[in-house]
Parts: sequence; C-alpha cells; structure tokens
Amino acid sequence: MKRKLNVGMIGYNFMGKAHSNAWRQAGKFFDLPAEIELKTICGRTESSVEAARKQLGWQQASTDWREVVNDPSIDIIDITTPNDSHAEIAIAAAQAGKAILCEKPLGMNVAECEAMVAAVEKANVVNMVCHNYRRIPAIALAKKMIEEGALGDRIYHYRARYAQDWIADPKFPLVWRLQAKISGSGTHGDIDAHIIDLGRYLVGEIDEVCGLMETFIKERPLLESTGSGLSAEAGKTTGEVTVDDAVSWIGRFKNGAMANLEATRFAYGRKNHITLEINGSKGSLAFNFEDMNRLQYFNAEDPADRRGFRDILVTEGSHPFLNAWWPPGHIIGYEHTFVNTFADFVKAVVEGKSVQPTFADGLANERVLSAVEKSAKNRSWEKVG
Ligand SMILES: NC(=O)c1ccc[n+]([C@@H]2O[C@H](COP(=O)([O-])OP(=O)(O)OC[C@H]3O[C@@H](n4cnc5c(N)ncnc54)[C@H](O)[C@@H]3O)[C@@H](O)[C@H]2O)c1
Repeated sequence: MKRKLNVGMIGYNFMGKAHSNAWRQAGKFFDLPAEIELKTICGRTESSVEAARKQLGWQQASTDWREVVNDPSIDIIDITTPNDSHAEIAIAAAQAGKAILCEKPLGMNVAECEAMVAAVEKANVVNMVCHNYRRIPAIALAKKMIEEGALGDRIYHYRARYAQDWIADPKFPLVWRLQAKISGSGTHGDIDAHIIDLGRYLVGEIDEVCGLMETFIKERPLLESTGSGLSAEAGKTTGEVTVDDAVSWIGRFKNGAMANLEATRFAYGRKNHITLEINGSKGSLAFNFEDMNRLQYFNAEDPADRRGFRDILVTEGSHPFLNAWWPPGHIIGYEHTFVNTFADFVKAVVEGKSVQPTFADGLANERVLSAVEKSAKNRSWEKVG
C-alpha cells in the first residue's frame, strides 16, 4: 500500500487555485510513491475559505494557520499567502516537522530567508520554493542541453526579460503587491525573482550586479473590493506606492557570463512575457513563455549552408516530464508547470531528500535581489553577498 501524504494549504486565491489543481493532478498523471490527500485549506475568513474548500476540493477548512501547521495528521504545509507571512508560517511548520513547499519570493529580505533556511536545516525537513518555471519541459530541456555542452564550454550571455502590463493603468488600485510592508519589493521580488532563478538554474551563481529601479506611478487609488492577486477595483482615495514598478540590471556570473535582466509591469501588450536568450561558445538557446512548448536552438557547428535556429516542439515523451502527459504535439500549459513541480516534491518527501529549488536557492535568490536593490539605491556596483 502506498503511503498517504496529507497536505495543509495556507491561502486559497490565485496560487491557491494553481496549487490545489497541482495537488489533485500530480498523482493522476505521474506514478508517485505516495497518495496525496487534500486535507485542509486555510484562510482568514470562514465563509470564503469554506467556499474555496468546496470549489477546490479540500476535505476541511480552517481559519487558523497555526492549527493546520500543528495538526499531527498533516505531512506537508503548502504556503500560498502573500510574502509577509511566508517566514512565520514556514518556520512554525519546520518546528512542527512538516515538509514545506513555499511560494516565492521565499521571504521579505535576506534576514528572513536566512532564518527560514536555518529552521528547515535544524528540523531536517524536506523543503522547496515554488519556482515552477524550472519545470517547464522546454526549460528543463535547455538545462539538459547546456549540461551536455550543446552551447559549448563557455556561456557568454544570459539575457532575460519578464514583462507584464497589469498595473500600467495609473488607476489600477493599491493591491498588496504594491505595498512594501506586505510584498517586500514590487516587480523585483515578484517576477524578477523568477528570471534570476532561471539564470541561477541554467547558467550559475551571480557574482556582481548593477541595477536601476523605478516607480513610475507613485500614488494609486485605494482598493475598493477585496481584489485578488492580479485584478482589483479602485476606490476614490489614494495611497502611496512603496515598491518598484520596474527594474533592469546587468551583472556578471561567477563563470564569467554576462547577465542582462529586465522586469516590468508597464509593458502594454505583454501579459506574462518571459523571454530568455543564452549565447555560448558553440550555440544559442532562446525561449518565450507565451509559446512555452517550444525551444529555439542554434548550433554553430551545423554545416554553414544550413545553419539557423531550430524550432524544437518540446512535446515528445522523451522530453523532460512529458512521458506523464499527452502524445507529441498535444501541448501543455501554465498549470502543468505546477503539476510537474509538485510531482518532484512528493517524490522528495517520500525519499526524505529535498529537490531543487530548495529554501537555500530561495535565499541565494534573495541575496541577488538585495544586491540589485542596494546597487540601484547607491548607484553602484554591488557584490552578491
Ligand atoms: N510561482 C508563481 O509563479 C507565482 C505566481 C503568483 C504568485 N506567487 C506567489 O504566491 C503568493 C500568493 O500570491 P497570490 O497571487 O496567490 O495572492 P492572492 O492575493 O491571490 O492570494 C493570497 C491568499 O492568501 C490569503 N492570506 C493572506 N494572509 C493570510 C494569513 N495570514 N493566513 C491565511 N491566509 C492568508 C488570502 O486570503 C488569499 O487567499 C505570493 O507569495 C506570490 O509572490 C507565485
């Protein structure tokens, strides 16, 4: 008989939906060594969390995350709350001996992330930070190709852009993502963190950075309704935006590659536009999340008269994660990135050994975020601490 793993999930909105779906689907598509039970869903308002419980398929609802964390029947704590509560919940979950899956950014700052890493290490619990884009099959294929030398033995450039437009309208209200006391930073921790993670995953550790950050709209209408993550209604009075709207930075990886990253929520027409290009001594790779089933590859060793970017449709069963899904050409989407991630996490929990990206990766990511912030503030180059 397979072991049963009971999950307690804190938060139930945008990520709560994506995570509930992943917990429901992972064991139906992947051959997992445990059965997953969607045991307890948790939020602050009884009626809303009960409605979410019914809709998302959880067995019971709670309005107190401490009760969930200390419930002896719970094996896994899944944290999908805004950033200001990640550390407190994760540290309590580690102390209660639970395996932990935490949304990104791991914490509000380096000190919080350090405390979270110390807590999971002391308790020796399996931990993961939800940088789900690592488990897009095309990205996992890029990783494999780089490791196998498809780009040569030297990487020259990592260029990444994460562009959205959901707050480009100055009338868009002051949701939690625009308030530093809840979110820590703005576009930087929210979406730059993802392309930093992909850079660390695909190219290596970042050594030094030089950044520029901007808040284009400094006052916004206060929130009228209880808007969710990326949508909300504006009220009449206004409040101060206390985070960055956009960030761009350059840097150097420890292996000598140059980094060039931009993250913005002010690029009209760009919705969840993650574009990457990596150039090495033998070739290049390019990726666009809005066409996420494809990976572009240029091999400089192809015969000169037929060189050009290959357009790899990453849907074959031989590609990473895809033997769990559909026949070739039957494409997958956003939600699959979470299912793939959660399948690996469940295997890690059963084996008692964390898989990447761990809380230590979340901390390393935060160190890069922090160095870029410091650099933008001081108009200086900064070493990643
Ligand atoms: N991996 C990704 O690509 C990705 C995408 C979006 C968001 N995120 C991250 O996920 C987290 C949540 O973002 P979201 O967009 O789902 O936010 P959201 O505003 O849509 O949902 C937050 C949820 O947390 C609940 N909540 C807040 N404080 C709570 C508390 N003290 N106790 C219990 N519940 C509480 C809210 O009621 C709500 O259900 C953030 O850390 C964000 O950065 C990650």
